[in-house]
Amino acid sequence: MFYNNLSAFYPLIDVFLKSQKKVLVQEINAQQRGALLEIGVGNGAHLRAYKKHKITGIDISPGMLEVARKQNCADVELYQMDGKALAFKCNQFDYVVLSHVIAVVDDADQLMREVERVLKPKGKVFILNHFTPENWLKYIDYAFSIISRFFHFKSVFHIQDVNSLNKLSLIKEVGLGLGSYYKLLIFQKDDKEVLRNHGIVIC
Ligand SMILES: C[S@@+](CC[C@H](N)C(=O)[O-])C[C@H]1O[C@@H](n2cnc3c(N)ncnc32)[C@H](O)[C@@H]1O
Repeated sequence: MFYNNLSAFYPLIDVFLKSQKKVLVQEINAQQRGALLEIGVGNGAHLRAYKKHKITGIDISPGMLEVARKQNCADVELYQMDGKALAFKCNQFDYVVLSHVIAVVDDADQLMREVERVLKPKGKVFILNHFTPENWLKYIDYAFSIISRFFHFKSVFHIQDVNSLNKLSLIKEVGLGLGSYYKLLIFQKDDKEVLRNHGIVIC
């Protein structure tokens, strides 16, 4: 599995992502205490930075999880699991974090269906990623699209193609450098009443 082999080198990649992850963690620590699920938790680089939430982390790669477990964070539950088939009940989490994961999974639509399912009404999703822009930078993404497959991510990534995100509302967008090529998007699930009014069954 690709990320098993990468687990030892991932801290090198992380150096470039440090400043944007700082913004992510600040946003999360500014929220009220709640149950937080990080999908694709990787080497667990964020775990120590989360200050007040009850943390559950999952990753499909046993190699990445092994590194995450070495962080020895008390009260953090880590499981090997596919984000597209979460073994959690509906409406269980206040927050879900996807940091550089949505363009890595093979079916982002199914991933977001699962995220929406496990999220409580009024729960929030934090998506940190690159987003292919409409300016000249898109040509760089197109140029890398074949190579990026070998590195198990999609260089061309348009959030509007993820249809299941329509069930959530975008409440905040933070540009994070390179002409907002990197962004933090925060989505929220509607509250129970709005969901019922839309005929959405709350499981
Ligand atoms: C680019 S790394 C990001 C790691 C971490 N979130 C970060 O920001 O440093 C992508 C992670 O997603 C995990 N991943 C890929 N597909 C997954 C899936 N279907 N379910 C859960 N994790 C997955 C990989 O194993 C890897 O650890």
